Amino acid sequence: MKLLVIGGGGREHAIIKSLKKNPQVETIYALPGNGGIAADAICVSISATDLDGIVNFARENAIDYAVVAPDDPLVLGCVDRLSEIGIPCFGPKANAAIIEGSKAFAKDLMKKYGIPTAAYEIFTDLNKALSYLETAPIPTVIKADGLALGKGVIIAATREEAKEAVTDMMANAKFGKSGSTVVIEEFLTGPEVSVLAFTDGKTVKPMVSSMDHKRAGDNDTGLNTGGMGTIAPNPYYTSQIADICMETIFLPTIAAMNAEGRTFRGCLYFGLMLTPNGPKVIEYNCRFGDPETQVVLPLLESDLLTVMRACTDGTLAETEVTFADKHACCVITASAGYPESYEKGFAITFTPEAQAATFVAGAKLEGDKLVTSGGRVTGTTAIADTLEAAIAESYRLADGVVFQKAYRRSDIGRRALQAGK
Ligand code: AMP
Ligand code: GLY
Repeated sequence: MKLLVIGGGGREHAIIKSLKKNPQVETIYALPGNGGIAADAICVSISATDLDGIVNFARENAIDYAVVAPDDPLVLGCVDRLSEIGIPCFGPKANAAIIEGSKAFAKDLMKKYGIPTAAYEIFTDLNKALSYLETAPIPTVIKADGLALGKGVIIAATREEAKEAVTDMMANAKFGKSGSTVVIEEFLTGPEVSVLAFTDGKTVKPMVSSMDHKRAGDNDTGLNTGGMGTIAPNPYYTSQIADICMETIFLPTIAAMNAEGRTFRGCLYFGLMLTPNGPKVIEYNCRFGDPETQVVLPLLESDLLTVMRACTDGTLAETEVTFADKHACCVITASAGYPESYEKGFAITFTPEAQAATFVAGAKLEGDKLVTSGGRVTGTTAIADTLEAAIAESYRLADGVVFQKAYRRSDIGRRALQAGK
């Protein structure tokens, strides 16, 4: 089979390495992929948002199955376009990807169908938002409506900060068009859990839970990033909580999307907060999380391609989805300065064992030399019988990924180790 994977980060590298385990897979094209992915797939420099380019490539190369991994092409309708020319795809159509594409849509959906989430108000008028903030409970959370690369969320500790944030989004277009509508919501507390779930629109099969580490610095300090590391499973997510989430969140969300005529097929990502009043949805993503995928897929025992095709064909109920009863830890090695400015173009070297354990995100080939080209450069994952051992081993392996001005958090997994202590 000839497969196409759209995207070019660590998540896509993890997906490609898993897909390759299926002996039926002959060729994987990555659009655009990256310099590290080039070791495992044929990278073609067509951007993930160039839908015309993607469709032409898929038609000309007789692709059998496509996986659309990032949010932008999903929201733009990449799956719709590929389906129109008869190429089966993993991922939601645009009318379902809106669950991530518009936070206002997601919040209204949850309200309408009684799915637990933070209380909220939606504003399209700056003055109304500012006057609401005169009396809103503080701290409060301000979110730009559209896709903003995970950066459109401000936790405001004071009324002034909240007003500044809505003004930046609505009047100064700090997040471009995605901030012309804002959601202002209740500040929740509790441990956060990421649950990625396979769904064919009828059945939902959650993957092993995980914990992201979004802040740039140790002890969750510094700016929000795309994610500096992950562990799985998340120790806060007990089987009792998993049952509650299935009944109150996962199944109701699938049913709600069907009731709206927006059947969701693909990977639905539930960003949850385990509050004193029960699990609540912080956000939905219409795709695999990154770096969550870099710990979740290495634990998947079932064949990824088979599971993905079952999501497309509507046969997920009959398809086995099992995970190893082990622990995984992924440590991101970033360019110092990320998520703000950082230097690029440094040569990357790996020890052989580090290379085998590493997914590449921000790197490109210059000749046959791999050099840094992004903020998050690599993710190195280890699997072990205990979380403690997985953390130690992932750090030991990550030490074998070397480039100038490399930066890692030193405490990935520490909070999880302390859970319940
Ligand atoms: P999001 O991009 O929606 O995942 O938000 C980024 C981060 O902001 C989340 O991972 C949470 O840590 C935090 N966050 C978002 N919404 C809330 C909320 N209502 N209460 C507390 N923290 C929140
Ligand atoms: N790691 C969070 C995300 O993928 O959105």
